[in-house]
Amino acid sequence: MSSAADSAVPRALVYDAPGEPLEALSLRELPALTAPGPGQVQLRYLSSPINPSDINTVQGKYPIMPKLPGGVPGHEGVAEVTAVGPQVTGLSVGDWVVPLAPAQGTWRTAGTYAAADWHAVPRDIGLAAAATIVINPPTALAMLEIFVALQPGDTVAQNGATSAVGEAVIQIARARGIKTINVIRERPDMDAAVARLKGLGADLVTTEHKLKEDLKASGLPAPKLGFNCVGGSAAQAVTSVLADGGTLVTYGGMAMQPVTAGTAAMIFKDISFRGFWLTGRWAAAQGPEGRRKALDAIVALYRSGALTPPPLAPFPLATADDPEAWKRAFERVAAPHRGAKVVFDMRGGAEA
Ligand SMILES: NC(=O)c1ccc[n+]([C@@H]2O[C@H](COP(=O)([O-])OP(=O)(O)OC[C@H]3O[C@@H](n4cnc5c(N)ncnc54)[C@H](OP(=O)(O)O)[C@@H]3O)[C@@H](O)[C@H]2O)c1
Repeated sequence: MSSAADSAVPRALVYDAPGEPLEALSLRELPALTAPGPGQVQLRYLSSPINPSDINTVQGKYPIMPKLPGGVPGHEGVAEVTAVGPQVTGLSVGDWVVPLAPAQGTWRTAGTYAAADWHAVPRDIGLAAAATIVINPPTALAMLEIFVALQPGDTVAQNGATSAVGEAVIQIARARGIKTINVIRERPDMDAAVARLKGLGADLVTTEHKLKEDLKASGLPAPKLGFNCVGGSAAQAVTSVLADGGTLVTYGGMAMQPVTAGTAAMIFKDISFRGFWLTGRWAAAQGPEGRRKALDAIVALYRSGALTPPPLAPFPLATADDPEAWKRAFERVAAPHRGAKVVFDMRGGAEA
C-alpha cells in the first residue's frame, strides 16, 4: 500500500558530532523512502517536541544517543501511518502513532520503522496531547505511584512546577485527591503563572523563598513526597518542607547545579533521596507491554478530561522566507518562562 507521502523526499535535522543545537544541527534531505518491508511501517510526522533531554542528546550529555555521524535527534512525537508492510498487525494507514522506545529520531518529516516500536493513539485526544504523550505525562504518573503509597488528602511538593512534567503532576494528583505544593521561579508574569497552575488544580503556588511561610499559612499537611527537576537551592527548598521520613525524587537538573539538602532535614527527618529515569530503568522494568499500558492510562486521563496537554509553540523546519526556520524553535526553547512546549510542526505550519 502506498500514498503520495511515499514519493516526497524526507528531510531531517541531522548532526555529525555533539555540540550546541544551533551549531551542530543542519536540515538535510534524506534518501527517498522505499516501500516498507515485512514488519515495517512508513510514517509521516505531524509534530515533534523539543524536550530538555533532546537538547542534552545533541550536546552529547544524554546516555541514549543516535549513531553518529548522520544522527537524527528527537525522542518524542506523533506520526501518521502512510504505508504498512507485510506481516504488520494492529496498525493501519491513517493511524496516529507514538514511539514506544527512545531515539527513533523524530525530528524528521518521514521515515520507515519497525512497527513493533510504535503505539497507536486515538485522534480524539488531539494533536498536542498525542505529540507530548510519551515522556512527560508517564513520568508524572509513575513518580506519583512508585515511591510513596499516597492517599487522598496527602500532599506532594515540587519545584519546576511550570514544566510539562510539573503540570501533569498537578493534574494527575488532583484527579487522585492528592494536594500539590508548587514552587516556581520568580518571573515577570507571576500572577498569570499562578493563575494557570491553580486552574490546573494546584493547591499552593509559591517561590523558593516564600515556600515555608506560604505552606504554614496554607494549613496543608507537610508533604510525604517531593519532586525535584531543578537542583541547587530549589531542591533544598523542597527537601526542607518534607514530612518526617519523606522522600525527594530527583528527575531533572534544569539549573545544572548539584542537588543540595539541609543537614537538619537529613538528620532530624531522615529524608530519603531517590532518582527516576523514565527511558532507562523505568522503561526496562516495564517492558514494551508495560509501556503500552502506561500510554493507554494517559490516553484515558486525556479522554476523561482529568489531564490537558501543555500549549504548543509550533515551528516549521523551513519556510520559503526562512530556510532555517528550525533555528527559531531553539531560540524560543532558550527563552525563560516560555509557558509552552516548543514543537516542530512537520506539516509546515506557521510559528505560533
Ligand atoms: N528523569 C526522567 O525520566 C525525566 C522525564 C521527563 C522529563 N525529565 C526532566 O524534567 C525536566 C522538565 O522537563 P519538561 O519537558 O517538563 O520541561 P519543560 O516543559 O521544557 O519546562 C522547563 C522547566 O524548567 C524550568 N527551568 C528552566 N531553566 C531553569 C533554571 N535555570 N532554573 C530553574 N528552573 C528552570 C522552567 O521554568 P520557567 O517556566 O520559569 O522557565 C520550566 O518549569 C527536565 O530536566 C527533563 O530533562 C526527566
